Amino acid sequence: MMASSTTSTCHCCLLIACLFLLSSTLVYGQLTTSFYATSCPALESIVKSTVAQAVAADQRMGASLIRLFFHDCFVQGCDASILLDDLPGSFVGEKTAFPNVDSVRGYDVINSIKAAVEANCSGVVSCADIVALAARDGTVLLGGPSWAVPLGRRDSTTASLSLANSDLPSPASDLKTLIKAFGNKGLSARDMTALSGAHTVGSAQCKNFRAHIYNDTNVDPAFAAMRQGGCSFTAGSADGSLTPLDERSGLVFDNAYYADLVARRVLLHSDQELFNGGSQDSLVRKYSSNTALFFSDFVDAMIKMGNISPLTGTAGQIRANCGVVNST
Ligand code: HEM
Ligand SMILES: *[C@@H]1O[C@H](CO)[C@@H](O)[C@H](O)[C@H]1NC(C)=O
Ligand SMILES: *[C@@H]1O[C@H](CO)[C@@H](O)[C@H](O)[C@H]1NC(C)=O
Repeated sequence: MMASSTTSTCHCCLLIACLFLLSSTLVYGQLTTSFYATSCPALESIVKSTVAQAVAADQRMGASLIRLFFHDCFVQGCDASILLDDLPGSFVGEKTAFPNVDSVRGYDVINSIKAAVEANCSGVVSCADIVALAARDGTVLLGGPSWAVPLGRRDSTTASLSLANSDLPSPASDLKTLIKAFGNKGLSARDMTALSGAHTVGSAQCKNFRAHIYNDTNVDPAFAAMRQGGCSFTAGSADGSLTPLDERSGLVFDNAYYADLVARRVLLHSDQELFNGGSQDSLVRKYSSNTALFFSDFVDAMIKMGNISPLTGTAGQIRANCGVVNST
């Protein structure tokens, strides 16, 4: 009697211990949310406060950090390859790739976070994990969902200009091409449609939406006319002029982007492909009327995207400076 009650108490303890572990540590592939719990306990608060400062100074930076994570993960996996600077004559990185050059922002913010983290726990935290955390914090600071970020990625010693040019989708893509580009990374069409909801924040340059507002027929004519006002038909000085991707609430992370799609009032040709009589129409309508569904699918897809081919264990390195490979 005594023995069996002790045993069952013990089972109960084990069960409780297990449930506790499951709830505090989530494991995704080789990444875990508690990776730095003992080696750098202040990590998440340092990242959050640095991102908060950057977003307070420039709200768009929240959006830029979300995009930086996407452009890292789609090229060689989430390995901070996008952060490596060109070294004239000896190293070509990804910063000058067509989708990145004069467009991707946030490198300085990542470098500031890295410096603050190194000052607190040196040589432990990868730049790739800082990019993943900064994307989450950017989302939250603009009003979007939060989630526990799986960690444990390491940094690459290489980068690929050619993969950055081939694997990041162009705004001229059609739906089939978009689904293929995400499928190549192990992401579903649903993941793609949810992740594209990041276009609820941030801006695009005229050169990237000119063709859509002047030449496409699946655009609300009043919207096209309004946007033509800030983006001349002829290439030239207006090429870089910025317009919010979501006309309703371009600095708030909400589901308004999907309502824009249904109204055919978006900037990018590739965005309107998600609602143009094809396979994603019904999901776009659902997200447009159900913020909770969008948020939950967005979080799942961000975690999935963050799991694209990470370097783990002893692969790669922990860079001391995110812009350069360690010299030793
Ligand atoms: C589906 C394929 C996608 C295409 C073709 C695409 C294309 C683009 C383009 C052309 C811009 C404007 C860049 C500029 O004009 O400088 C942009 C901005 C942006 N993209 Fe995407 N994107 C895609 C998916 C994603 C995903 C998956 C995310 C993140 C989860 C994302 C996040 C963003 C954000 C936040 C911005 C605004 C950045 C800022 O204001 O700094 N995009 N995207
Ligand atoms: C790291 O940051 C935490 C929280 O700000 C602080 O308590 C701790 O003393 C710092 N450790 C070092 C080594 O700077
Ligand atoms: C629109 O299409 C015409 C005809 O194909 C082309 O000449 C022109 O460059 C296009 N304009 C834009 C802004 O894409």
